[in-house]
Amino acid sequence: MHSFADTKIGIIGLGYVGLPLAVEFGKQFDTVGLDINAQRIAELKDGIDRSLEVDTEELARAKRLSYTTNPADLSSCNVYIVTVPTPIDEHKRPDLTPLQKASETVGKLLSKGDIVVYESTVYPGATEEVCVPILESHSGLIFNQDFYCGYSPERINPGDKEHRVTNIKKITSGSTPECADFVDKLYQKIITAGTHKASSIKVAEAAKVIENTQRDVNIALINELAILFNKLGLNTLEVLEAAGSKWNFLPFRPGLVGGHCIGVDPYYLTHKAQEIGYHPEIILAGRRINDGMGEYVANRLVKLMTQRRLQVCQANILIMGLTFKENCPDIRNTRVTDIIKELESYNARVDVYDPWANPEEVHDEYGIDLVQELPTGKYDAVVIAVAHREFKAMGPQAIRALAKPQGVLFDVKYTLPHDSVDDYL
Ligand SMILES: NC(=O)c1ccc[n+]([C@@H]2O[C@H](COP(=O)([O-])OP(=O)(O)OC[C@H]3O[C@@H](n4cnc5c(N)ncnc54)[C@H](O)[C@@H]3O)[C@@H](O)[C@H]2O)c1
Repeated sequence: MHSFADTKIGIIGLGYVGLPLAVEFGKQFDTVGLDINAQRIAELKDGIDRSLEVDTEELARAKRLSYTTNPADLSSCNVYIVTVPTPIDEHKRPDLTPLQKASETVGKLLSKGDIVVYESTVYPGATEEVCVPILESHSGLIFNQDFYCGYSPERINPGDKEHRVTNIKKITSGSTPECADFVDKLYQKIITAGTHKASSIKVAEAAKVIENTQRDVNIALINELAILFNKLGLNTLEVLEAAGSKWNFLPFRPGLVGGHCIGVDPYYLTHKAQEIGYHPEIILAGRRINDGMGEYVANRLVKLMTQRRLQVCQANILIMGLTFKENCPDIRNTRVTDIIKELESYNARVDVYDPWANPEEVHDEYGIDLVQELPTGKYDAVVIAVAHREFKAMGPQAIRALAKPQGVLFDVKYTLPHDSVDDYL
């Protein structure tokens, strides 16, 4: 291993995770950020982060950070950090292609003594079983003799300006005790909240994937309760508020579970479980419930409209919010599209409005053309699907004014005071 003072870092993948990390390291170490997306690199060179995680002044503070699309520009690096996506395919199986491709790129750059740290969320075992053989075959070097690996999962929460990369405690790990110490020391340089050195790479991988699995299962339980209480004629929020008066009742709320973390990561864990012949019950049941919530919301709305003698077929329905969560432009794996699809299956005419989402990205990804204006009095139903701060600021009156006088207002995310809407989860 090289001496700590000579550390030169290459970061592969400059997205929601990679960029903030590159900026922090780039304040203290020579750092090169690599991305295959040429437009992303061109924008970053101009000081623009379209994910809105890092502003122009902050980017400028990373004086030792450079950006490139050319892997050769990383050839003098001795620590590589991989932060590429780990999505699932249409059968909900892990799609490790970006991770494998990034490992090929790094493998070709590796020299003796180098360290490769993975940050992407995976299942326990993926680094050593999937990535290390690729690194070995493309470098001709031997693992834990010529080069070493680490795993340090990211916990960043896009759109959250309070929990930033530096003030979230970070798990570190390494393939040998010396490498683990090195990786831990490296992250301690930028993480003010401190680090937790796990005993192995597998422990660190498992820890990350269960953090999101635990949230997913907890939300699924609350979603199931919301479905049950609705059938019982009980108000879910009132029940949750009453139960929440106990000191150890967890404050989860029902809702859609989208995005590329909570709704995706549990499938990495269940994939690994099934690979070794264990059929996970609770995790998959939670996934099924959460994946069905968009359709459930749409059908609750249809029932409400029908009860009010509003014809659903050809109805004008406005969906407010498309991103996978509030105050964030990320549209990946948003489950709001499930609500839209279900309503369109009734031949309703659905308009979608989202001041955060990029209209071109939405068009390319989902074939939806966002409306840019909000006409008053047009809609038979308005669904607040995402609790963007703009919608809260509009308030119930302005939002109701978008609907026809007898139109209904459904609030999926408790965006407005609950007595000002017609229904909510
Ligand atoms: N976004 C989050 O909230 C979050 C939080 C914690 C962990 N994670 C995990 O971190 C990882 C990255 O997520 P993200 O949200 O930053 O993804 P992202 O899509 O925002 O960014 C990934 C970047 O990697 C680039 N890329 C893909 N393949 C590449 C390759 N072979 N070489 C170079 N660049 C390549 C893409 O162009 C993109 O810019 C995932 O495993 C994710 O699960 C994400």
